[in-house]
Amino acid sequence: MKYTRLGKFKVSVVGIGAWQAGQRSWGRSSREELIKTYRYGFNNGINLIDTAEIYGWGRSERIVGEAVKGYSDIVVATKIAGCFFHPVWIRKRVKGSLQRLGLKSIPLYQVHWPPSIYSRLCPGFRVLEELVEEGLIESIGVSNFNRKEFIRANNCLENEKIVSNQVEYSLVQRAPERVLLPVLEEYGAKMIAWGPLAKGALAGKKKIDNIARLTDPKFHRARKDEGLLGAIKTVAEEVGVSMATVAIAWIISKGIIPIVGARRKKHIDSLIEAAELNLKQHQLKLLYEASRKYLSGGITRVTLRIMPDILYCGILWLIRGA
Ligand SMILES: NC(=O)c1ccc[n+]([C@@H]2O[C@H](COP(=O)([O-])OP(=O)(O)OC[C@H]3O[C@@H](n4cnc5c(N)ncnc54)[C@H](OP(=O)(O)O)[C@@H]3O)[C@@H](O)[C@H]2O)c1
Repeated sequence: MKYTRLGKFKVSVVGIGAWQAGQRSWGRSSREELIKTYRYGFNNGINLIDTAEIYGWGRSERIVGEAVKGYSDIVVATKIAGCFFHPVWIRKRVKGSLQRLGLKSIPLYQVHWPPSIYSRLCPGFRVLEELVEEGLIESIGVSNFNRKEFIRANNCLENEKIVSNQVEYSLVQRAPERVLLPVLEEYGAKMIAWGPLAKGALAGKKKIDNIARLTDPKFHRARKDEGLLGAIKTVAEEVGVSMATVAIAWIISKGIIPIVGARRKKHIDSLIEAAELNLKQHQLKLLYEASRKYLSGGITRVTLRIMPDILYCGILWLIRGA
């Protein structure tokens, strides 16, 4: 396994995404199989795993907590929903995550999306800074923050730095490398890529068999792009690996950390393979040409910021959709 820096941590160049363990949007996965899958990854050197309080309303965090039991070096990254990012609620949310994860301290605590325009950013980030001092969290990250929001959030902090911004990034969503990556590099923060396989479409999956796929525009974009899928397939055949491995290795080649929604052992095999794969210049060029049209646009917004936080969390709570 190859490693890189994520704030004070040494992490594998690829991580595991555990939204799939929330199961509501993704369909059933047994607890036992998920734990076995994650541990297979840990035993092969992957030491970064991403979850969130809203994934299955705690199911994902509980499963991740069970999986990391007995391991001392796993960097668990979880997230507070943007609509709970208010000084009154943050401590309670952190304690809930700590309890579900069975940890004394959360290695990377991320703000899942920028809170609505009714919440001021800085008071929340100051609470996060206090929590670092108290040892309840070890580092601070954000997710789905655009360039301006990332800079504003960083400016709120006095003693800490934001170590990462997790955004949607893949061969069908390349805008972040243009509009966000330069500023993250300037601030010494890492980009973490969610949706690295466009929900599996870049691995060749076309069937709309769950809510996550049905509702993701990038899945639909990718599954119809025969030119791009053809380019990935050509490289995969040339190297003798799967399409998933190629799509993941391409992200790693940019110095960005993909977190892949892996729920089976064979998914983990692709992650391990991708970490070791160095794509050749002509292969990178082929992938570049086939995906350059996706360089335009901005970062994906996961919420409407105009909606008050409380209304958001109320709706989330009602549909319990994650
Ligand atoms: N911050 C945010 O707002 C945000 C948003 C979304 C996701 N995330 C994070 O990012 C992680 C991954 O992103 P994502 O959930 O959008 O999905 P993704 O990683 O793009 O796609 C995951 C799906 O692709 C398929 N897959 C994975 N590895 C494969 C392989 N080697 N070969 C063939 N198919 C493979 C699996 O489908 P099957 O399971 O059907 O086999 C899997 O469920 C999540 O788990 C979560 O931690 C964060």
